[in-house]
Amino acid sequence: MTFIVAIDGPAAAGKGTISKAVAAEFGLAHLDTGLLYRAVGFKVMSGADPIAAANALNPLDLEHDDLRTANVAQFASQVAVIPEVRSALVNFQRSFATQASGAVLDGRDIGTVICPDADIKLFVTASPEVRANRRFQELSAKGAKTTYEKVLNEVVERDMRDSTRSDAPMRAAAEAIVIDTSELTIESAIQTACDLIRSKQSA
Ligand code: DC
Repeated sequence: MTFIVAIDGPAAAGKGTISKAVAAEFGLAHLDTGLLYRAVGFKVMSGADPIAAANALNPLDLEHDDLRTANVAQFASQVAVIPEVRSALVNFQRSFATQASGAVLDGRDIGTVICPDADIKLFVTASPEVRANRRFQELSAKGAKTTYEKVLNEVVERDMRDSTRSDAPMRAAAEAIVIDTSELTIESAIQTACDLIRSKQSA
C-alpha cells in the first residue's frame, strides 16, 4: 500500500515549503503540480495552443528555469481553466501518486479530483494580505521591481480564477484538515503537518 499525502491551497500559503519538508521527513516523492500548469502556460506565452501543449508535455519541461515568475503564474492559472488541459495532466499526476515509495502532491485539486482516496488531505491557507506580503518580500529579495499592491492584486485575481472555474476549482476536500499559516512560523506549520501525518500513519 502506498501512502499518499494531498496538500492543496492558494498561492504563497506555504504549501510548497511544507510539502518539500514532509516529503523529506517521511521519505516520500514530491510533485509540485503547479509546475505542470506553469509549463503549459510558459509554452502558451510563446504562442503554443494550450491543449496541444498539455498533451505534449514532457517531464523535462518541468525543469525550465523561468517557470516561477509572476507572469507565468497568471498564464498557468488561465490555462488551468480549460478542461482539456486539466484532463491531459491527470494520468501523469495519478501515476506519480501511486509510485511504490509513496508521494506528496501539492496543488489545488489533489484532495478533490486527482487523489480523492489520499491517506491524508491538508488544505494550507493564509489571508491574502499575508500571502501577498510573503510573495512581495521574496520577489524584492530577488531584485524584482514590483509593489505590495500589485502583488496583492495578482494574488486576489488568481485566487478568484482558481476557485471559481467550473472544472476542479480550488477548494478544501470535505475531509481535509485546514492549516492556516497566517500566524504561524514556517517551522511550526511544518511541525503541525508532520504531527498530523504521523498520527494518521499510526492510526
Ligand atoms: O501552485 P502554483 O502557484 O505554481 O500554480 C500555478 C497555477 O496553476 C495556479 O494558479 C492554478 C494552476 N493549478 C491548478 O489549477 N491545479 C493544480 N493542481 C495546481 C496548479
